[in-house]
Amino acid sequence: MASYIIEGGKRLEGEVKVSGSKNASLPIIAASILNPGITRLYNIPNIHDTQITLEILKYLGCKVRKNHGKIEINSKNMTKRDIPEHLMHQMRSTVVLAGAILGRFKEARFSYPGGCDIGARPIDLHLSAFKKLGINITEEGGFITCKCDKIIGANIDLDFPSVGATENIILASIYAEGITTITNSAMEPEIVDLANCLNKMGAKIEGAGTKVIQIEGVKKLKDISYTVMADRIEAGTLLCAGAITGGNICINYKTPDHITPIINKLEEAGCKIQIAKGKICLQAPKRLKAVDIKTMPYPGFPTDMQSIFVSILTIAKGTSVVVENIFENRYRYVAEIKRMGARITTEGKTAIIKGVRKLSGAKVKSTDLRGGACLVLAGLAARGTTTVTNIEYILRGYEKLDEKLKKLGAKIKIENNDK
Ligand code: UD1
Repeated sequence: MASYIIEGGKRLEGEVKVSGSKNASLPIIAASILNPGITRLYNIPNIHDTQITLEILKYLGCKVRKNHGKIEINSKNMTKRDIPEHLMHQMRSTVVLAGAILGRFKEARFSYPGGCDIGARPIDLHLSAFKKLGINITEEGGFITCKCDKIIGANIDLDFPSVGATENIILASIYAEGITTITNSAMEPEIVDLANCLNKMGAKIEGAGTKVIQIEGVKKLKDISYTVMADRIEAGTLLCAGAITGGNICINYKTPDHITPIINKLEEAGCKIQIAKGKICLQAPKRLKAVDIKTMPYPGFPTDMQSIFVSILTIAKGTSVVVENIFENRYRYVAEIKRMGARITTEGKTAIIKGVRKLSGAKVKSTDLRGGACLVLAGLAARGTTTVTNIEYILRGYEKLDEKLKKLGAKIKIENNDK
């Protein structure tokens, strides 16, 4: 287990580039399974979650080559249709590989996925959608086997606009007979990126980014090169790092419309934001102001930014109320940040944050990916030294976070506790 050691109190200044999106990369890597040929992907972040997904592809029989920021996946000679339990358990998004394997072979075998412990995170919506596509599902000994002779287009109305379920339905129905219509689909930009990539391969997907998506089954896909979108949660995290340190920073990021609710809330908290071509610059006020937040499916305020925003609200002037509407267990980091002097009470979905003037450095433990990032930001602003342990959670989703923060003037280093 490794830790970040952070000397707090440095005002961040300068400019950094936002990496490729984790949540877009994972389903796009899965999509490469559907084309029995070569897919070249650019801008895939080099993080634990993409490495695990590529490991699974290799296990399935794909050839994976990495070369200067390009990843080339050759799925021609894929042999296996099952996902090993130990890899499936490492992260929840492995579940989208099931839709891609099914789409290609009409057969897939996998266990329940793992991932950050931020709530129950069932896959009932994924499985009931597969059934609607004519896929038989059997469960035995913790394994789920999906099989059918052919996938048949269907109308699927999601009870909740689940991101993963929407992606899985798209992947499973690319070669389906007829048309699949998803209503109440998730509208996240990562779904648009997946659809753009698949359409470039020759798929026929319409309506991605809206509440209704239509997929007309095609007979074959073709080899392509595709550049994955930038990570909107990393963009938001870096802007919040600037805000919490009273800083003045710019991020190289070309899609400000993907982070509109984050920009709006930072402005409400008193930050000056300027959007120029390919860049967003933030100038923090002397002291941030309290703001209220409710997490919602896109285009609402993203649940992945909840903990990160709470970190900046701990030192804002006044009382903020935050409501977490997506995951039921996403306040596990609160006990840790309170050890740094934050005044937060939680009850069910709600957190009430009474801003203090300063946090103080402490030894705190990452509870999950975004909860860990929240503690790093708190450490940047705190008086004295903060040790954030269990940073493996953070490394799952952020590429070179310490190096980027260092470039902006933070004093942060990694310490490997295994030594
Ligand atoms: C994705 C993102 C994650 C983000 C989340 C919500 C990836 C790899 N991860 O996760 O970072 O926080 O979207 O924006 O893209 N649900 C069910 N049954 C299901 C599926 C989901 O009840 O079959 C519930 C979940 O428990 C949760 C809610 O729906 O309460 C949202 O989940 P979902 O949108 O599916 O999130 P993920 O795709 O897992």
